[in-house]
This record gives sequence, structure tokens and C-alpha cells, in this order.
Amino acid sequence: MKLPLIVGNWKMNLSAKEATELACKIREFANKNSYAKVVLAPSFTLLQGVGQVLAGSGVGLASQNFFCQEKGAYTGEVSAGMIKETGCEYVIVGHSERRQLFGETDELVNKKALCAIQNNITAIICVGETAEQRTAGKTFEVIEQQVRKALVGVENQDLEKIVIAYEPIWAIGTGENATVDQANEVHCLIRKIVAEKNSGNKNGSLSILYGGSVTPDNCKELLRDPEINGALVGGASLKINSFCDIIRSADNK
Ligand code: PGA
Repeated sequence: MKLPLIVGNWKMNLSAKEATELACKIREFANKNSYAKVVLAPSFTLLQGVGQVLAGSGVGLASQNFFCQEKGAYTGEVSAGMIKETGCEYVIVGHSERRQLFGETDELVNKKALCAIQNNITAIICVGETAEQRTAGKTFEVIEQQVRKALVGVENQDLEKIVIAYEPIWAIGTGENATVDQANEVHCLIRKIVAEKNSGNKNGSLSILYGGSVTPDNCKELLRDPEINGALVGGASLKINSFCDIIRSADNK
């Protein structure tokens, strides 16, 4: 059985000193137990330093973004090769903040997912509906579209390099998490779409994470659900105690 995956998305937070200190503490905690596979996603400038702290430990490194060209005149962008050099084995793709604030489209998300696979980096693809879409009863439609478009050209054997994170936008940073039932039904839908699209894949092994206001208080219940294979944690990953509590709660999966 695969370990649950707990990813800390630090977003645009922490100084270099704060980041390496926090990474050291998380490495220490995570290496003393095997509750979950833990991955940290610091900002670009922190990848090298945090990568050095995590090297040789069981804790993985993720970039929060990258650009899907090998090199060239792309001012301000960072390539797959560059993030790999810092030790990244994972990359977050299509986070709703990238989609909403920086105009990332489903097509770009797909290109990035394919580029990550090509470079042997696991793509953590984020999908999620807005509050308006949920109220209008469009959640399933929106998720289906995002998942299908993100996975165009992804072959069965590539699915090992794909993780999907269901992050309802209304739950991100709001303190209002999805209920277990709400998350469960969307996770089931995602699993079904992937199974249909990539028939013959061992779809049970696809990791589907929940993200959106995950805290030490709600993670136990969320992670107990068999469809929820881990968590993508924002705010609560910035504090050692809350993040370790979340990792620990993966114990009874
Ligand atoms: P949050 O963020 O845990 O602070 O809601 C989650 C995310 O955006 O990945």
C-alpha cells in the first residue's frame, strides 16, 4: 500500500533562514516515523537551500510552478531542468492561484503536466470549483473538464507520475474546508474519469489529495476516507506543530 502523501505548499512565504529551519525540523520529524510521504514546496529562491536540507532524507522537494520549455528567452521563468537541479521530484501544476491570478489555462496546465512527465517529475495537478460554480450545481462538470483537459496525451504508464489534488477554491485559505462527503464524491468522480480515459490503468493506485483549509482539527476525519490519499496543505504547513500534527494524523489511514 502506498503511503498517504502530505504536501506542504509554502506559497510566497518564509525567508531563507526561516525556510531552512522549518525544513530541518520537518525532516527530523518525518524521518523518525513513517506516517506519510512528506513533500515540501517552497518558492523558487528557497528550493536550493531547502533541497540541501532535504537531500538524502525521505522528505521530497516540490516546486510550486515551472515553465514547460527547456531553455530560452522566457524572462522570469524556470525550467524543469532547473528545478530538478535543486532536487525537485515533484511540481505543483495549475494551482488555482496560478489559474486565477496568472491566467493559466487548462491547455497550459496540460502542457506542463506532459513536460513534467517527460522530465521524470511527478506533477501534482490541482483542480477545483469556485463557490459560484458549486452553488450553481456545476462542480462535477467543472472538475470533469479540468481533469480531462489536464490529462490529454497522458498515457497509462505516465499515471505513476501524476497526482491530482482536489482543491475547491472556496476552501483555500478561508478556514472553510470541504466536508468529507463533499471531498469523497469529487475524488470518486476524478478516479472514475481517469479510469475511463486510461482504461487498463491500475487506477486504484492514482493518488488524489484534498486541499483547502486542511488543519490539525479536520485532517484526521478527511484522511480517514479511503478516497482521500493525502493532503495539499497551505497555511498549516508553515508552522511546525500544525504540520507535524497533520502528518501524524495520516497514521490511521
Ligand atoms: P490552505 O491552502 O491550506 O491555506 O487553504 C491550500 C492550497 O492552496 O494548496
